[in-house]
Amino acid sequence: DGKPTTATINAASPGPVYDKRIFTQFAEHLGNGIYGGLWVGNDKTIPNTNGFRNDVIAALRNLSVPVVRWPGGCFADEYHWREGIGGKSKRPVKINTHWGGVTEPNTVGTHEFFELIRQIGAEAYVAGNVGNGTPQEMAEWVEYMTSPAGTLAEERAKNGHKEPWAVPYFGVGNELWGCGGNMRAEYAADVTRRYATFIKAPRGTRIMKIAAGANSDDYNWTETMMKMASGQLDALSLHYYTIPGAWPPRASSTQFDETGWANTLAEALRIDELITKHSAIMDKYDPAKRIWLAVDEWGTWYADDPGTHPGFLRQQNTLRDALVASIHLDIFARHADRVKMTAIAQMVNVLQAMILTDGSKMALTPTYHVFEMYKPWQDATVLPISIDTPWYHKDKWSMPAVSGSAVRGKDGKVHVGLSNLDPNQPNSVTVKLDGLNAANVTGRILTASAINAHNTFDAPDTVKPVAFTGAQVSGGTLSVTLPPKSVVVLELQ
Ligand code: AHR
Repeated sequence: DGKPTTATINAASPGPVYDKRIFTQFAEHLGNGIYGGLWVGNDKTIPNTNGFRNDVIAALRNLSVPVVRWPGGCFADEYHWREGIGGKSKRPVKINTHWGGVTEPNTVGTHEFFELIRQIGAEAYVAGNVGNGTPQEMAEWVEYMTSPAGTLAEERAKNGHKEPWAVPYFGVGNELWGCGGNMRAEYAADVTRRYATFIKAPRGTRIMKIAAGANSDDYNWTETMMKMASGQLDALSLHYYTIPGAWPPRASSTQFDETGWANTLAEALRIDELITKHSAIMDKYDPAKRIWLAVDEWGTWYADDPGTHPGFLRQQNTLRDALVASIHLDIFARHADRVKMTAIAQMVNVLQAMILTDGSKMALTPTYHVFEMYKPWQDATVLPISIDTPWYHKDKWSMPAVSGSAVRGKDGKVHVGLSNLDPNQPNSVTVKLDGLNAANVTGRILTASAINAHNTFDAPDTVKPVAFTGAQVSGGTLSVTLPPKSVVVLELQ
């Protein structure tokens, strides 16, 4: 309703670290998430290094992706690691039963995954198979990857990698309430205890065990896992997708009106309530907050784009998705004491992707640009921000017009993210800087003329950040005029 926003950044009472692992990305054997999007193998027409395309790797390196979660998702609970090692021509060709029923050549397996993250400069988050694998298979995979000695280490060396790899994060299955085995919470807690028992890190190393957590508002799942299995765990996951309308996802990624905009952003904002309530349950069993809440799948989920392979979860990414991303990144700041890792779904060509490819072509999405703009948040210190903002209403959807977060970066500077969710009205934001005297402000803005603006291979720069001149700082007050439907990131000195 056009009223101004007032906010206070409390720089004198800094909060927890905004863990860089909040910027983890998820890459599943799904559609063109791996094959085509990252891996092009021997294709001479697409420049690549050891099979991984150079353009996509360079773009990901530019984001400083801290961790990559692989190989699923639902795929993980049917994945047998032995099928993805050794000579490529000997690897079995399987059917990817979850995702499109297409063949899975097993060309990208364990060695290729570690080559991928070596090129990106990221750490490994490997998800094990609890669904139709055994504890023995899981334990042997961990040993194959991490052990310095023994028969499995020798096999690894024979396959080209003498040195053990680091696996700092290991997922004890995925969505055990669904595609991971349709388990009841009590059963899943027992199964998790059993499998987790056999995940052993070699002396002097550490593997964090991340249990398959709740879907959305399944609080009973979190309660049961914490009550029965927390002793075995280092982290419990939470999956929450932003879906305008009911399951299964039917909304178009690009053809939407203001109602679709408001509906989607309202769904994204729900993550705040979900994290608050799941965290409160975790607090009962783990008041010291030893166990992370790892929101290791989040993002928008629309209908498959027209003309794409069914089940490949290929969707365009618009300015609306950029706002969904900034809303999540702001909300994670408020929960940074418990939320130390999150993973957007997914990295390339799947759901709320950073990057889209088609053959040799590549486009960066608006979501990519938000992740790039928020890079200073990685391992920064959260500065508490309170925001008093008017509400934006559309049909049955209502929400605070302005979302924001603030951090003191590792560079010592203060970074402020402000998003205007209202697609029609600008908003004047006055921020009181408590305990901070800034003389200079610079910034960038991500916006576009249309709510569904997006980047295509022919027009890849329709939505991209540009310099922002609508902010002034004097002494302890920051004044910002936020254009409608925009994400602004400011740097104060
Ligand atoms: O990201 C797509 C799928 O969504 C994942 O495989 C699964 O874990 C979730 O249901």
